[in-house]
Amino acid sequence: MKKSLGAATIILPVPVWVIGTYDARGKPNAMTAAWAGVCCSDPPCVAVSLRAATYTHGNIKRRKAFTISVPSEEYLKEADYFGIVSGRDTDKFAATGLTPVKSDLVDAPYVKEFPLILECKLLHTFEIGIHTQFVGEIADVKADKEVLGEDGYPDIEKAQPIVYTPMARTYHGIGKYLGRGFSVGRKI
Ligand SMILES: Cc1cc2nc3c(=O)[nH]c(=O)nc-3n(C[C@H](O)[C@H](O)[C@H](O)COP(=O)(O)O)c2cc1C
Repeated sequence: MKKSLGAATIILPVPVWVIGTYDARGKPNAMTAAWAGVCCSDPPCVAVSLRAATYTHGNIKRRKAFTISVPSEEYLKEADYFGIVSGRDTDKFAATGLTPVKSDLVDAPYVKEFPLILECKLLHTFEIGIHTQFVGEIADVKADKEVLGEDGYPDIEKAQPIVYTPMARTYHGIGKYLGRGFSVGRKI
């Protein structure tokens, strides 16, 4: 018997992505977002939903670009910090000691120390409610060689991304390998 929990964003897990932007004066900023995901394969796109109160919101509107830097477990503290303070009054890169790198493809910085990066050009903006959804077309994906698997793509066990549970407000690592997609279901 299932219990109704009401109309709310009670879902798990959600990703922990860090959005990189430049402000009007060119100061790099990083903000953590969990209301985010892949939203189209062709053109390759991701969507991130931000409240207008965030500094990043205005930065994306002005610069029409953002990056996604995916933190590995070792950068949990920094990823959480990027979601606690605002770039409006703090230089978060200086505070954490992490390094902003200017994308050569889009008008936004990414976090050098994080292993997986998506460079995005703003494609669509949707006003949904308290969040604005920004759809970014992926111009390039960059990954540290150390996290690539034998197939040349990022290996989840090497990249060690973090997931989040919104209601409990807890971070978790990735669980154990279960099987291959488009494959295990064929046994039925
Ligand atoms: C784990 C986590 C996930 C978050 N996800 C979002 C999100 O998806 N959208 C949002 O507007 N704020 C989100 N926040 C809050 C922002 O990161 C926070 O308001 C931040 O200070 C905004 O930074 P900025 O003002 O420098 O842009 C999240 C915070 C944390 C810790």
